[in-house]
Amino acid sequence: MFFSLSLAALTVAAIVSASTAQQPFGSQLPIASNAFETYDNGLFSPLEDLNLLSTDSFTTLTHPVFPKHSVRIKKSSDFCDGTVNAYTGYIDIQARHLFFYFFESRSNPETDDVIFWTNGGPGCSSGLGLFMELGPCRIDTANATKFNPYSWNDNANVFFVDQPIGVGFSYADYGETVSTTEEAAKDVAVFVAMFFEHFNKFKGNAFHMAGESYGGRYIPVFASEVYDQNAVLIQNGLTPINLTSVMIGNGCTDDGTMYSAYYEMQCSPASVHPINTIANCVDMRRKVPRCEKMFKESCRDSTDSIACNIALSFCNDAIFNPFMETGYNPYDISKPCEGDISDTLCYPITKNISRYLDRPEVRETLGVDPSIGAYQSCSSDVGARFDINLDGVFPTQFYIAALLERDISVLIYVGASDWICNWLGNDRMSLGLEWYGKEAFNAQELSEWQFNGTAAGLTRSAGPLTFATIYDAGHMVPYDKPEASLEMVKRWLAGESL
Ligand SMILES: *[C@@H]1O[C@H](CO)[C@@H](O)[C@H](O)[C@H]1NC(C)=O
Ligand SMILES: *[C@@H]1O[C@H](CO)[C@@H](O)[C@H](O)[C@H]1NC(C)=O
Ligand SMILES: *[C@@H]1O[C@H](CO)[C@@H](O)[C@H](O)[C@H]1NC(C)=O
Ligand SMILES: *[C@@H]1O[C@H](CO)[C@@H](O)[C@H](O)[C@H]1NC(C)=O
Repeated sequence: MFFSLSLAALTVAAIVSASTAQQPFGSQLPIASNAFETYDNGLFSPLEDLNLLSTDSFTTLTHPVFPKHSVRIKKSSDFCDGTVNAYTGYIDIQARHLFFYFFESRSNPETDDVIFWTNGGPGCSSGLGLFMELGPCRIDTANATKFNPYSWNDNANVFFVDQPIGVGFSYADYGETVSTTEEAAKDVAVFVAMFFEHFNKFKGNAFHMAGESYGGRYIPVFASEVYDQNAVLIQNGLTPINLTSVMIGNGCTDDGTMYSAYYEMQCSPASVHPINTIANCVDMRRKVPRCEKMFKESCRDSTDSIACNIALSFCNDAIFNPFMETGYNPYDISKPCEGDISDTLCYPITKNISRYLDRPEVRETLGVDPSIGAYQSCSSDVGARFDINLDGVFPTQFYIAALLERDISVLIYVGASDWICNWLGNDRMSLGLEWYGKEAFNAQELSEWQFNGTAAGLTRSAGPLTFATIYDAGHMVPYDKPEASLEMVKRWLAGESL
């Protein structure tokens, strides 16, 4: 969650952590390798049974095909879910360390699909998705979590990953950084390959990559990297990853379709009754075409970063600032922002997540590296690095089209009252995709899909592509609509239409 307009005055991640001193994420102490039980130094045979793992310390796993990588993993049986095995650890890529949580399915772990989840930002931790949205437990008080009966591990094995390095509990030893999605994708793809090689009870299970918000940029690139990496795995005699689909929740994928949508969402009844003044709306209406033209010329047709920054800044002043004057929650325009956005992200519950993840006993259970300082929902440093590289203006819809052309299924789902990565922009992005099924997809009218006997949202689908909205939900669909979102995911995994 928590996408911020590229280089916008409101960089959510920046505002969030402005108040908390940035923690260095380099490890202060070299990790003593003998502190961990080393599994099979070099000569590979898979660990196979996750149950063999220790709950007290990490087990380190290596693989000869990935000589620069290893996995540290530990079991924490009663963490968060309580009814399934839970694992946490790090994928170590030389000096870079990516933190993950892994929960087995509540149904049949050995045959159920595997879902990879990441939050957005760029720079936000998947702890938000885990403890607030689709995880096996939800944050309750600052000291405790409670069981979530609508977790997506109901019938799937689910990962939550803090990526790239510098986010959440992920870190680097010597101040290494990652500042583009394409760079981040390399670490993620190796992560995925290492996992399936070691835990071959999941090998061949359908694999889905899911994310939210800036995940609309991350996930298409990550899935493409996993797809391309399969050729390398096959060359090395390994089993390719059974990449089956991507699921993007309230994604920001193509800014080119989003600017006019930002205007319409606040000035027309596209979602809720117009929330901005007529004066502001008329002013915006005059500026939107200019913003779109500048964006196209300076950020897409050329890659002149100075001109592109001027365009982004113009669009921001024209469209974003007048929205912020309304006091509405940019993640859900059916309500005002709760608290100060820089403090709560409009959701005071996020503060309890941070307090919970700062508890020493929780850190110990998870095996969080001692070099990690206070938990930050979003890292402003990481966000700023991606912004400097203009990562967010990339036409990521090209990756989605490329996946569709290879018959990887794509679900674009959008909470209908979100503004920041709204349904209108996503609808236009999906209609604009250039792929073999474009004509069939675009010929479909939006129609209602039902859940529990009532209309749950709108949908349009053809072949491997499905677009869906969820009524009465904001940016974080599983937070607002846990039952409906689980039902949507179950139908999707089962290959049924919504
Ligand atoms: C956060 O936790 C405190 C107790 O630690 C509780 O009183 C409060 O209601 C929680 N806040 C939210 C928004 O759930
Ligand atoms: C949370 O734990 C702290 C100390 O660990 C304790 O002082 C506090 O009362 C607890 N709060 C709740 C709401 O249980
Ligand atoms: C991939 O997963 C699908 C769905 O579970 C399954 O039907 C298919 O056989 C799997 N493919 C491979 C190569 O394992
Ligand atoms: C399902 O429908 C029943 C009866 O109309 C209603 O009481 C319940 O709240 C609904 N549940 C959801 C999740 O919408």
